[in-house]
Amino acid sequence: MTDPSNAPTTDDAPAADIILSGRGIRRAFPVGERSLEILHGVDLELGRGQRISLMGASGAGKTTLLNILGLLDRPTEGEVWLDGLSAWTLTTPERAQLRNTSIGFVFQFYHLLAELNALENALLPAMIALPHVAYRHKREEYEGKAVAMLERFGLGDRLKHRPGQLSGGEQQRVAIARALLLDPPLIIADEPTGNLDSSTGERVLELLFDEQETRNTALLLVTHDRRLAQRCERMVHMEDGLIQADSTLTIPT
Ligand SMILES: Nc1ncnc2c1ncn2[C@@H]1O[C@H](COP(=O)(O)OP(=O)(O)OP(=O)(O)O)[C@@H](O)[C@H]1O
Ligand SMILES: [Mg+2]
Repeated sequence: MTDPSNAPTTDDAPAADIILSGRGIRRAFPVGERSLEILHGVDLELGRGQRISLMGASGAGKTTLLNILGLLDRPTEGEVWLDGLSAWTLTTPERAQLRNTSIGFVFQFYHLLAELNALENALLPAMIALPHVAYRHKREEYEGKAVAMLERFGLGDRLKHRPGQLSGGEQQRVAIARALLLDPPLIIADEPTGNLDSSTGERVLELLFDEQETRNTALLLVTHDRRLAQRCERMVHMEDGLIQADSTLTIPT
């Protein structure tokens, strides 16, 4: 149960048009006898439907920050608000439910389950979100949605393929379908094209941008590719565990 004495007052909650807010995020890791601080107090807010890129040299702390903003890792200090809720005041099952329904993840190395086929991988968030009985009732609805999405992504004849039987670009498209299945208000993508050749990567990202725009999903995208970053309305630059620059761009239409 949430301890009410620790629960923040509603005054602390970000404005309704903010989907994600990280405040004063610090993260230190124990290394031997010492503690090594990697994030030194990061503040980042993301508006609903906003597309933002996060760049910075290798080791700057981008993945560490994404893991925290994605509720996969707990900050040593600071708060993370997602969709109006302060994530670390929730119980573990509440937080897991919030993460599963409010964030779609796309990783550099896809992270598909090897034993499941493309369709089953895309359906995973629904299997996790719904208790077994409810899932049985809604299975057809979700299956229809996943099949339609995979077909739209050019994978109509790959539904029964396991990840090992798919190319990198195909696996990433399955991962994007999985990320979008429950229509989350936020997508977090950590170098989604980092393992693909540039033209495949561009096509995969195009697809992600299209879906994001259509659904008005917020997108937080880590990339080393400046050209891709410039396709985002806002660019954030990290250096040594701090945000050094935050600029809003005018995207040419
Ligand atoms: N569990 C951990 N224990 C100790 N140090 C860690 C841990 N995780 C990350 N670090 C350190 O934190 C720093 C930032 O790592 P992080 O993975 O966030 O970088 P990054 O900006 O994502 O880099 P890249 O662009 O190469 O992916 C690195 O120096 C890394 O060694
Ligand atoms: Mg990284």
